[in-house]
Amino acid sequence: VIKMTDLDLAGKRVLIREDLNVPVKDGKVTSDARIRASLPTIEHAMKAGAKVMLMSHLGRPEEGVFSEENSLKPVADHLAGLLGSDVRLVRDYLDGVDVAEGEVVMLENVRFNKGEKKNDEALSRKYAALCDVYVMDAFGTAHRAQASTHGAGQYAPTACAGPLLAAELEALGKALDNPRRPLVAIVGGSKVSTKLTVLESLSKVVDQLIVGGGIANTFIAAQGHPVGKSLYEADLVDEAKRLMAAAKEKGGDIPVPTDVVTGKEFSESTPADTKAVANVSDDDMIFDVGPDTAASYASLLRQAGTIVWNGPVGVFEFDQFAAGTKALGEAIAESDAFSIAGGGDTLAAIDKYGLAERISYISTGGGAFLEFLEGKKLPAVAMLEERAKG
Ligand code: 3PG
Repeated sequence: VIKMTDLDLAGKRVLIREDLNVPVKDGKVTSDARIRASLPTIEHAMKAGAKVMLMSHLGRPEEGVFSEENSLKPVADHLAGLLGSDVRLVRDYLDGVDVAEGEVVMLENVRFNKGEKKNDEALSRKYAALCDVYVMDAFGTAHRAQASTHGAGQYAPTACAGPLLAAELEALGKALDNPRRPLVAIVGGSKVSTKLTVLESLSKVVDQLIVGGGIANTFIAAQGHPVGKSLYEADLVDEAKRLMAAAKEKGGDIPVPTDVVTGKEFSESTPADTKAVANVSDDDMIFDVGPDTAASYASLLRQAGTIVWNGPVGVFEFDQFAAGTKALGEAIAESDAFSIAGGGDTLAAIDKYGLAERISYISTGGGAFLEFLEGKKLPAVAMLEERAKG
């Protein structure tokens, strides 16, 4: 693909699609990781003398209607603070925007525009007409073929990848395409159903797959152990068995927790009980891996050459069920492996335990990160490749 950093942007109208879809509460940004990740791109364009227009979505508003709740105003204000310069928010921009050289304007939430989500051609052409150079930098939204992530790039005079998108693709490619081995993937989270394709595709490329969270419960059931009232998916037990058999055929395994931490109800105050997995009773809910299991998974992580982490292994929001996620997060941070992590809950755990500095690469993608792990071609990347062919 063509890279933004290889282009001369001086005096050009540069339209940058970022993923500034960040949590906002009471008009304030509560986590600015995605805004910070986009800063180098924005600063590069400013310094290069571009007329910078930023666009992003925020949330999932009803299309065609402005709503205060989904306005990018708090994001523009927050960005202005980080940049130390004004960021003007423009509401009506489809017929053109005046921007000075070195100035940054933010275009209001693209999902207020009818046709954004269905990648409407007329809307895409309007976006494209705003600029000389279209920069796709929104890795977190690269799995969406929408007017601002895909169509705009098809019709813009020049379309290129921004530094953040390029860095994400490079880091994820390094982990999965040509990894230092052994490659260990740890996939947690609540449901097998939402991650079945991720598990399938990872199990083909990794040397060791570790499952945790509600996902592990389905594997525990597949091994014939009781799971009590735990979240698990009875209809996916056979899939879990198949994945375990396939791993065995390759000479490995997908380990199942030998001990677990249980509670009687999903609540912050429910007492925790650590027990062997065989001793889970009818009214138990499994909320974390036990200490023996955590130690054995940590030793697998310590031997890794590359680690891919998506999803906590327990209900780490409740302290009595946080030890497993904390121990494994620390094992990842301490390992010499090239480690990448992504996904909203994973990032929350990384923040909670202060691991960020010691993880090699933290992706800004949630759904996009998962689709990359699934081995899917991200539509926005496909568009850039198409454009690079000329
Ligand atoms: C995300 O947060 O995963 C991206 O910003 C995409 O948002 P969406 O799922 O609403 O398209």
